[in-house]
Amino acid sequence: MGRTVYLNGEYLDEAQAKVSIFDRALLFSDALYEVTSVLDGKLIDFKNHMKRLDRSMTELNYPKLLDHKDLELFHRGLVKKNNLKEGVIYLQVSRGVAERSFDFPDKKTELTVSAFTQVKDLLKNDAALKGIQVMTTDDMRWGRCDIKTVQLLYPSFAKSSAVEKGFDDAWMVRNGFITEGTSNNAWIIRKGTVITRQFDNLILRGITREAVIECAKELNYKVDFKNFTINEAQSADEAFVTSATTFVTPVIKINQSTIGDGKPGKFTKLLREKYIEKAKKIAI
Ligand code: PDD
Repeated sequence: MGRTVYLNGEYLDEAQAKVSIFDRALLFSDALYEVTSVLDGKLIDFKNHMKRLDRSMTELNYPKLLDHKDLELFHRGLVKKNNLKEGVIYLQVSRGVAERSFDFPDKKTELTVSAFTQVKDLLKNDAALKGIQVMTTDDMRWGRCDIKTVQLLYPSFAKSSAVEKGFDDAWMVRNGFITEGTSNNAWIIRKGTVITRQFDNLILRGITREAVIECAKELNYKVDFKNFTINEAQSADEAFVTSATTFVTPVIKINQSTIGDGKPGKFTKLLREKYIEKAKKIAI
């Protein structure tokens, strides 16, 4: 017996969960996803993840939205059945099964809804303790990075190239400005101001990003939403990434440039602590 996973209303052993080869997720990457972190067996910021899912589904004309109560019920079910204390739940919603054709099916399809758990050390891990090293690379993704689709081949390629070269991740660059990490939002701190790119169609509006903006304000840091270049990032006092899987994780090197003294920055550490405190408070 492996993990218990969820597929279209049923809990199944992971080996038994099967989807059709005609599923549009397989044929067109026509699927959306959310990753919700779990601490002490509780869901972090669940409602905001589901609101973002609604937005993604609306932007791509999905035939209907999903009921948040049902979603919460099986997220909790998966936590319980897998005895998950710390880790994440991956949720995927595809447009469903249809004959292969580029246009969206006219007949309403049944959505394919699947979810599974992953055990992860979110609180204590090497990256959080020592910081990560990132390389920069061209952002060659499509122009709707604000929609959380499973079309992740380019980010996967970019991260693998970074790892091959001895880095932990890549920060992507478009028109001379950093957009975001392969699966996280990018931040720098310069002269006491916390800076992250303004929200537009070239980045995902991270749920962790939103919570960290609040944390920064609560700590009386000035927050600026603006584009920044590789040079500005390399000469920053501190840098970090945010996501449901990394929380706030320090960046200590960008390409060949060490950030600050090459150790996780002081404000970054405080932000991480504040975020974790907030996450636990809002957990359900
Ligand atoms: N990724 N930007 C991108 C491109 C992402 O893929 C993610 C999340 C984020 C941060 O979003 P959030 O704070 O809501 O997790 C930003 C998830 C964790 C993943 O793909 O595994």
